[in-house]
Parts: sequence; structure tokens; C-alpha cells
Amino acid sequence: MLPGASASAGACTGRIRSSATRTKLHELADAHPGRVEIETLDIREQDQLAALATRLAQRRFDILFVNADITNPDPTQTIGEVSTEDFVEVMIVNALSPMRVVETLAPNVTVEGLVGVMSSGRQRRQQRKRTARALSRQQGDAQQFMLSYAAREAASARALVLMAPGWVRTELGGPEGRLSIEESVPSLVGVLLSKQGTPGLQYVDYLGRTVPW
Ligand SMILES: NC(=O)c1ccc[n+]([C@@H]2O[C@H](COP(=O)([O-])OP(=O)(O)OC[C@H]3O[C@@H](n4cnc5c(N)ncnc54)[C@H](OP(=O)(O)O)[C@@H]3O)[C@@H](O)[C@H]2O)c1
Repeated sequence: MLPGASASAGACTGRIRSSATRTKLHELADAHPGRVEIETLDIREQDQLAALATRLAQRRFDILFVNADITNPDPTQTIGEVSTEDFVEVMIVNALSPMRVVETLAPNVTVEGLVGVMSSGRQRRQQRKRTARALSRQQGDAQQFMLSYAAREAASARALVLMAPGWVRTELGGPEGRLSIEESVPSLVGVLLSKQGTPGLQYVDYLGRTVPW
């Protein structure tokens, strides 16, 4: 999945962390000249985010969707075993930085557009047993921050979405994931498009089903 993407009618801007790496996003941009623009952002770096906001100041987007996540270097560690340094790093990337992006770039989203954040979703007991990843599941904290953000933005017509992508076979999800990227992402994108114009915060999965808080 892409680390972050802002889509406008007929075009989209995606963000990658390093300008040195060639990714599938670059292939997409090559295949659709003029329709995909790539920006580089390490979501932890406030000066990079500020510079991006300045570059995009005159642009308006229909959708801002934030999708970045890390786990601690040894995801088999229990929460009591994780070092304070690793804990803080995961919280900065998975909870604090996505909300900074939302607060900084939401003004670029059209009044009836959508602001979304990828969520860790609710994991089944079986999945919790197979993939320890006690720390990355704490992305739930970003979910709590979205609730506060939604309360502050109650008068806004923008749709706010927390998206649970399902258990997907990525580097993070691991090879045992139930879904391929192709099974999750197109449907997830369809759900985001369908939620535009519906104000308020919704917590849904890649099939559009409501996820309990
Ligand atoms: N896979 C699953 O089963 C699953 C389940 C529930 C929720 N999710 C959520 O889905 C989203 C995508 O996860 P994934 O499975 O696609 O994992 P992934 O393959 O590990 O992708 C994580 C992405 O986050 C980016 N990222 C990490 N640190 C960053 C930073 N400091 N600045 C900017 N981007 C950064 C990575 O960019 P680089 O390429 O530069 O490292 C990478 O593109 C995450 O929010 C995750 O919590 C996934």
C-alpha cells in the first residue's frame, strides 16, 4: 500500500519516504503521465511536512488519506519487553505523525471532501496469536486522536474515515494474511470514494462494513 495519498478529481498526489527508491508508485506515475504526482515525506519530520504544505498551499484535494506504519524491530516482543526508545518511535510514526498530517493538510481538502487515516483494525483472536505485534496494534491511539479531531470538526461537512484494510499480505501483515493487496485495496478505494459527502467520523473496513470501536 502507499504510505500516503491525496487524490483530486482525475489526478492524485502520493507521498513516499525516500526520493532515492523506485517504487510501484513511480511505475503508476510513468503509466499515467500527468495524472500521478509524487511528493517525498518522512512523516516524522515536521519541517518536511511544513515544506510540503507550503508546496501544496494552492492545491485542493477531494481526499486526503494517511497511510504510514511501522512496528518495533522485533515484533515478537511482548509490550513489557519493548524498549522505551522503540515504543516512542512507533507512537511517533503511527499515532502522532498521522494526526499532524491530518491537521496540517486538511485545509487543502475541499469542503465536502474526505479526510481518512488507515487504522490497525480489530484483529481476530487467531491473528493476535499468530502475529504478536503487540506494539503496532497500539495504533489504536491514532484512532482515539481521530475521535478528538472529529469532535473539534463537528461543524465541518467533510467526511472523516478510519479505514481497516483487513489482514493483508504485506511486509507488515506477513505471509499468513487473509487478503492479497489486490483483494483489499481496490475495494478500500471504492469505499473511500463512496463516503465523500457524508459528514462525520466513520470507522469502516475495506468492504464498507462498520467496525465497532
Ligand atoms: N497489512 C495488514 O494486515 C494491516 C492490517 C491492519 C492495518 N494495516 C495498516 O495498513 C497501513 C499500511 O500497512 P502495510 O500493511 O501496507 O505495511 P507496510 O507494507 O509495512 O507499509 C507501511 C508504509 O508506511 C510507510 N512509512 C513507514 N514509516 C514512515 C515514515 N516515517 N514516513 C512516511 N511513510 C512511512 C512505509 O514507507 P517506506 O516504504 O518508505 O518504508 C510503507 O510504505 C498501515 O497503516 C497499517 O497499520 C495493515
